[in-house]
Amino acid sequence: MSFELVPLTLATAPPVDAFLAAVDESRASLTRWMPWCHADYGRADVERWFGEADRMWRERSAFHMTLLDSGRVLGVIGVHDIQLYGKREGELGYWVRLSERGRGVASTAMRSMAAFAFNELRLARASMRIRLDNASSRRAAERAGARYEGALRHGIVHGDARFDAALYALVPDDLVRPWAP
Ligand SMILES: CC(C)(COP(=O)(O)OP(=O)(O)OC[C@H]1O[C@@H](n2cnc3c(N)ncnc32)[C@H](O)[C@@H]1OP(=O)(O)O)[C@@H](O)C(=O)NCCC(=O)NCCS
Repeated sequence: MSFELVPLTLATAPPVDAFLAAVDESRASLTRWMPWCHADYGRADVERWFGEADRMWRERSAFHMTLLDSGRVLGVIGVHDIQLYGKREGELGYWVRLSERGRGVASTAMRSMAAFAFNELRLARASMRIRLDNASSRRAAERAGARYEGALRHGIVHGDARFDAALYALVPDDLVRPWAP
């Protein structure tokens, strides 16, 4: 398996329709687990998202990457809620299109994004907040080599709802151990 992580900026974003096709086939699970997705998520939402992602790159407040395999959109991963100074940590958020799940795309992307966070942003931790019942995301984090650190009460806000979160994190030493996707 091989794919690229391409910065999600206006200059490098994939075609809106290609992105929307990946969302469309995954819509049910994205609506369940991701606060931004909804039943009517469409072209205007994608265009708005590309603009926001571009702004966040320029402001250095969050860094999102499109996962691309020969131009096909596999999903997105980003590092957000970044503290560039002080605690020097950030949080990973990600999704993979339905037809590409279960073959290590998310876990591979998490390690690549963590390497970017450690090497380029000089962060000391890359964490993931995952709803307790999101078994595939928890498995993907474990498969990436992240360690479970405990539960955060009301650690996830999804619309008006709050959910307890499983906290996982990668630190630079986790990337040194032998690993295969
Ligand atoms: C979570 C998600 C990103 C995982 O992507 P992926 O590319 O399939 O992840 P990986 O293949 O790297 O790892 C998935 C692991 O979970 C397992 N898995 C997949 N679906 C599962 C399920 N429904 N229940 C339990 N385990 C599951 C896989 O077998 C694999 O575990 P393994 O190492 O034991 O084989 C993807 O399912 C997704 O986009 N879900 C919707 C959005 C979301 O939940 N994002 C994360 C929010 S915190």
